[in-house]
Amino acid sequence: MNKKTFKDIDVAGKRVFVRVDFNVPIDENNKIADDTRIKAAIPTINYLVHQGAKVILCSHLGRPDGMVNPKYSLAPVAKRLQELLNRPVKMATDTIGESAKKLTSEMQDGDIVMLENVRFYKEEEANDDNFAKELASLADVYVNDAFGTAHRAHASTAGIARHIPAVAGFLMCKEIVSLSKAVEDAEPPFVVILGGAKISDKIGVIAKLLAKANVILIGGAMANTFIAAKGGKLSMSRYEKDKIDVAKQIMEEAEKLNVKLLLPVDVVVANEFSPTASSKVVDAYNIPDGYQGMDIGPKTRKLFKKEIKKAKTIVWNGPLGVYEFKKFQKGTKKIAKAVAKTDAMSVVGGGDSVAAITELGYASKVTHLSTGGGATLKFLEGSVLPGVEMLEDK
Ligand code: 3PG
Repeated sequence: MNKKTFKDIDVAGKRVFVRVDFNVPIDENNKIADDTRIKAAIPTINYLVHQGAKVILCSHLGRPDGMVNPKYSLAPVAKRLQELLNRPVKMATDTIGESAKKLTSEMQDGDIVMLENVRFYKEEEANDDNFAKELASLADVYVNDAFGTAHRAHASTAGIARHIPAVAGFLMCKEIVSLSKAVEDAEPPFVVILGGAKISDKIGVIAKLLAKANVILIGGAMANTFIAAKGGKLSMSRYEKDKIDVAKQIMEEAEKLNVKLLLPVDVVVANEFSPTASSKVVDAYNIPDGYQGMDIGPKTRKLFKKEIKKAKTIVWNGPLGVYEFKKFQKGTKKIAKAVAKTDAMSVVGGGDSVAAITELGYASKVTHLSTGGGATLKFLEGSVLPGVEMLEDK
């Protein structure tokens, strides 16, 4: 990586502003449903604490639209972090106000303060320079460890780097190195698995990976657009009408480049979009009236697993079915198991695909579990991430 990292600077005794991505799912009881992103930031935090830095943590949570909303408070996250680190984490009740200023000015070496949700201020997403300056005034140095938010040019992810020395954290480095390696040094057969709702989110990644992959497996609702392009009968299944031509172009390009692009051959359908809907398995190209696709079927799982088994490199992003409903998780979970069982260099990104791997206890079997959703896709498609671009060059 050509950017300076936290190891290139002396942090002892310094106030270090660390942008983390603690945008974690919080359930209806105010409990953290998945703490992967909090755990992923611990190596940087521990390193800084042990170097005698004063660690100021900043994150967003959800999309509060520039307004204070207790529903999106980072307080439960600070509590969880404190448990994981087994050391105190003081929580400020604002981000640049009295509370933040007081707590950060009273810090001793090795102390940790967490600022309140930075998106409670509309200036954050507007990348307002005065707001960035205010954030910077709390610290001497800036460490960006929020890979998951590095595709956003916001005040705390990019603007702040105009005001204090800015370097990458451990997680940021790990993500960049692992994701670059998977794509640049991919050993064949290189199998790419793509799922999720929309083809429009993944066009950039497909375009980039078509030139490198040997096999592309497509599931989830995005597969429906391809099936529609091939003349399949989709009935109530979701697909993007305006992207049918794009799907056609992708399939033509895959054929030209000799990339095997596989779509579902059978699907689990339901008579309504609900976790308790009655379901059955049907031909992916002939969905009965009144039904919609919810997951890949058993023949498709078998077909996809056969390719995954032969892979030496795997990149996977997006669930193969409606993962938020337990009843339709089977396809994604079977694919997670197949990926975990290979010896391939594997990179998995996106909330639901990562959740499937983690829930099944396969996290250690995957080479790299990315903490990014949109950021991972942007990185894989070759875009320059504003949160990385702004960091100091080596
Ligand atoms: C994510 O969860 O992908 C990141 O935290 C970015 O969140 P955002 O899409 O609300 O900017």
